[in-house]
Amino acid sequence: MEDMKKTSTIVTVIGMGKIGLPLAAVIANRGYQVIGADIDETIVKLINEGKSHIPNEPHLDELIKRSHDSRSLRATTNTSEAVSRSDVIIVVVPIITNKDHQEDYCFIDEAVYQLAKGIRKHSLVIFETTIPVGQTRERFGKKIEEVSGLKMGKDFLLAYSPERVSSNQVIRDLNTYPKVVSGVNQKSLEKAASFYKQALQTEIIKVSSLETAELTKIAEGIYRDVNIALANELARYADQHGINILEVIKASNTQPYSHIHLPGIGVGGHCIPVYPYFLINKGITGGLIEQARALNESMPDYGVQLLKQDLGSLKGKNILILGLSFRENVKEVSHSSAIELDSLLKLQGAKTYIHDPLFSEEEIRSLGLTPLSLNDEIISHIEVIILQAYHNQYQYLDFQKFTRCTYVLDGRNRLDRNTVISAGIKYRGIGT
Ligand SMILES: NC(=O)c1ccc[n+]([C@@H]2O[C@H](COP(=O)([O-])OP(=O)(O)OC[C@H]3O[C@@H](n4cnc5c(N)ncnc54)[C@H](O)[C@@H]3O)[C@@H](O)[C@H]2O)c1
Repeated sequence: MEDMKKTSTIVTVIGMGKIGLPLAAVIANRGYQVIGADIDETIVKLINEGKSHIPNEPHLDELIKRSHDSRSLRATTNTSEAVSRSDVIIVVVPIITNKDHQEDYCFIDEAVYQLAKGIRKHSLVIFETTIPVGQTRERFGKKIEEVSGLKMGKDFLLAYSPERVSSNQVIRDLNTYPKVVSGVNQKSLEKAASFYKQALQTEIIKVSSLETAELTKIAEGIYRDVNIALANELARYADQHGINILEVIKASNTQPYSHIHLPGIGVGGHCIPVYPYFLINKGITGGLIEQARALNESMPDYGVQLLKQDLGSLKGKNILILGLSFRENVKEVSHSSAIELDSLLKLQGAKTYIHDPLFSEEEIRSLGLTPLSLNDEIISHIEVIILQAYHNQYQYLDFQKFTRCTYVLDGRNRLDRNTVISAGIKYRGIGT
């Protein structure tokens, strides 16, 4: 296995977002010289001041400060220039999907173009973004060849190693999860494996092709989507029969082959709701993957139907949605069920408000939503509360303050039922 001398190895990480920045900070604290490249000037400025733009990511602030003090991490908006000085280039810029669920490569294509303009001979390029099968080689490898005139596998090495971590625990995951690594040829694979072994000091799982690693990552995401859909379907059945699904899942999962996930009012973020379409768009339709997606996408509507079933018409009702983020303690609005819930409730004639401690009122308003501070006296007009994301702050929510509230829909089954009931409010969960 080829070895890389850490201190003389320069690494550029392209995309200083929720995943790229923690990765850059970890590598910079392992003795590498790291350049973070991003198109967002505010993010670049903050990193160069030794600060993070990502809230609630344990240990990230201290890692960035340390690497700033030791000058092992700096950031730039000039990707090509950073790449031109680098031995290793890691791409963590997302592929997004449009409203028809088609892949939109605009951000990553631009990043790859800038990379290709700057790349020098013998560099190792690694993609970590979740990528539809075949695209590391066919789309990005070929684009780098076309723009740079270099040959993949020969003049530059090409690897794919999916990021498998979760926001809010990225550093822990980077330090503990095995790293799946693949290469366009043996040399690329060995070089990438050797790099990660030193940079992350975690177990390395070498797989035989770029496409194997690409599908590995998509398969992990789809497994979770399908499993959550199963939990949601069972929860709906439990609702009809007065059974508590949490009790069922807890008991079921004592059987070693049962790993049922938890039901909820929706699956959001730019990962799990997106990856199934990487296969559905390639013709894997009509089966489990597509049905699971449809079921999970229908959960906000299911929540609204529960409200209507219990409360009758929602016309004119003041409804507060707690949590704009797609999940707890993460500032990420992509595919958040809060947005779908808000529009479904408005269609029913309800007056909706959003609270989220991680977003400013301006940020909430910019999405066409109405923010509500929990100190605002309007909270005394709230009649219904829907918990959408169980941020830590909601553990201590004082329901007594909601003097007109009669009903709480706990979309994550996380609130303490007794606290809600003792405030004189009816409690309902998903499948509980
Ligand atoms: N967020 C997660 O929990 C998670 C988990 C596992 C894997 N991932 C993977 O990581 C990828 C990145 O996710 P994220 O959460 O970090 O996204 P993010 O939206 O937080 O960050 C993306 C960053 O890329 C930057 N960017 C956009 N275009 C650019 C360009 N042309 N050049 C340089 N920078 C550019 C943006 O300014 C932003 O800072 C995802 O697509 C996914 O495949 C994410």
